Amino acid sequence: MVRARSASVLFAIFTVVAAAFTAGVPAALSHPAAVTTTPIRGDVKAGKQLFVAACGGCHILKAAKTLGKRGPNLDQEPSAYAALITQITYGGEGMPGFAKAFKPAYIRDIAAFVARSTPYSGGGDRG
Ligand code: HEC
Repeated sequence: MVRARSASVLFAIFTVVAAAFTAGVPAALSHPAAVTTTPIRGDVKAGKQLFVAACGGCHILKAAKTLGKRGPNLDQEPSAYAALITQITYGGEGMPGFAKAFKPAYIRDIAAFVARSTPYSGGGDRG
């Protein structure tokens, strides 16, 4: 008796999970943009000032008139907004992370400015 009941409970769970999959997967596949694009949020003007102060010493970026040479020239780098958020937050090899220095809104401002200021800008999550 107990066995039969738990088997039917398991079957019910399986049915629900299977239904969720068949309903969810095609929807996700037919709207890839909705899944991968991160809309650009952030104040571009504020981001420019923050960039000049915090990033310009290491990066060239025409839109900010900065000439730093320790990091790559950002006029020549892909600059997807989402990737910028990650790079600014965590840093990289030779680049400090800014998670402690800046609250998330400031990081979004800088990312918005850079994403909007380079040849690769435009798309939310391109690059
Ligand atoms: C102390 C110097 C330094 C500072 C300050 C600095 N960076 Fe960097 N940055 C680097 C170096 C070195 C790299 C290359 C290593 C890497 O990709 O992580 C880099 C890489 C990057 C990349 C990746 C480029 C690529 O090839 O994909 C981006 C974007 C970037 N920095 C943006 C910023 C922004 C925005 C700021 C300011 C919030 C900033 N950096 C501050 C040194 C710095």
